[in-house]
Amino acid sequence: MAFALLPLPFDSEALAPAITAETLDFHHGRHHRSYIGKVNAAIAGTQLDSQSLEQVIAAARGSDPGLFNNAAQSWNHGFYWHSLAASSNGPSGDLAAAIDESFGSLGELLEQLKLRGAAHFGSGWVWLAEKHGKLSIEETHDADTLADSGFNPLLVIDLWEHAYYLDHQNARPAYLAAVIEDQLNWDFAADNFARGSAWTYSA
Ligand code: FE2
Repeated sequence: MAFALLPLPFDSEALAPAITAETLDFHHGRHHRSYIGKVNAAIAGTQLDSQSLEQVIAAARGSDPGLFNNAAQSWNHGFYWHSLAASSNGPSGDLAAAIDESFGSLGELLEQLKLRGAAHFGSGWVWLAEKHGKLSIEETHDADTLADSGFNPLLVIDLWEHAYYLDHQNARPAYLAAVIEDQLNWDFAADNFARGSAWTYSA
């Protein structure tokens, strides 16, 4: 069964100027589509053809770097689109309490996300994640993912240059500030926190 490209869960103009429609056109319409297409081509006619994307990631990790990279990138981008929103209303309820307990305050969490994202060397991802009720910031390099890691990912920000270069050129901190302050989908984070297990790519 071929995997589908998840549609963007917002209008392509909704994140500007933090992330413009032009960036989304390339990032979603070309990069993400390409990763999905390569996974589908690799698993067609194999025993992985009937598996979930999470199962493909786990099967390929450590044994098939090409398939792993494309499957993990497919998952990470689906999760990233859902981590973004037209407006950021902030965390509430149990998630807000967990943030205060783990980071001291929401402001401190956002500051740490910016610092970790800016300091990350090269391509990768910066995550807000949960394990055993404790929240933490995690980083993965290149295509690596928290999908099969034992962490419950709550939010992710793409640190690859293709995520921000058209809009912010080399100023990754400007992209991070714009996204982290105004475009994070805290309702998605709260849903992930409440579920207590990793989101699944279902298309
Ligand atoms: Fe990306």
